[in-house]
Amino acid sequence: MEIEKLTRMKGNQKVTMLTAYDYQTAKILDEAGIDMILVGDSLGNVILGYEGTKQVTMSDMERHISAVARGVKHAHIIGDMPIASYDNKVDALKNSKRLIAAGAHSVKLEGLNSDVIKALISSGIPVMGHLGLLPQTAIDLKVKGKKREEAERIYADALELDKLGVYGIVLECIPVALSQKITNGVKSLTIGIGAGVDCDGQVLVVNDMLGMLQDHKPKHVKLYANLHDIIKNAAQSYIDEVKAKTFPTDEYSFH
Ligand code: KIV
Repeated sequence: MEIEKLTRMKGNQKVTMLTAYDYQTAKILDEAGIDMILVGDSLGNVILGYEGTKQVTMSDMERHISAVARGVKHAHIIGDMPIASYDNKVDALKNSKRLIAAGAHSVKLEGLNSDVIKALISSGIPVMGHLGLLPQTAIDLKVKGKKREEAERIYADALELDKLGVYGIVLECIPVALSQKITNGVKSLTIGIGAGVDCDGQVLVVNDMLGMLQDHKPKHVKLYANLHDIIKNAAQSYIDEVKAKTFPTDEYSFH
């Protein structure tokens, strides 16, 4: 989906976004009609089993973006720039081009890094910003912008990102009143995760909303399915049937 079509949705209809990291999931989300798919660096904790996003590399992102791109016909694909891939303009330009070559239609990067964002946009690379809780550098996973000073800084950063020409801004774990103020104050699409219903759109980590998590469920995650139990029960049935020699029956055998 083209960026112009997405940005025209501001104020008219909500934009839907989920993460995906693999071909099959991306294909299903695309078939369901999702507007945007983020190949997030949440890849690190969700798929690769790291503690967070810090170990995710450019090659990890390229591999998973290309898998997602092979499954998508309609949705706009965003490639997340991993930590240390956009420390300066030269790296940011080189690395964002790699993500676009892998199949992303735009890139997302965390925080306000004006020089880098300016360089990418003037080279024709569409950029989505990300404010509030920034997992690549955060020292805790608490809600950001509850205190006045921090809220004012996030608001000012959002205005600056908007001025630089980002087409969208992810707002992660900030109070509803702040996301509402930002949404009303910028031309860009605001995409919330833990930021309330007033954002122009919403994003969730797909594995979280499908209920793959077992240990800790963040407050902002709604479970739309319980894949953990579905997969575990299916695996247990398979184990029982193989042990009992009731699988494979003739129906699943060749003669
Ligand atoms: O990496 C990711 O999944 C993200 C979302 C939390 C927005 O950045």
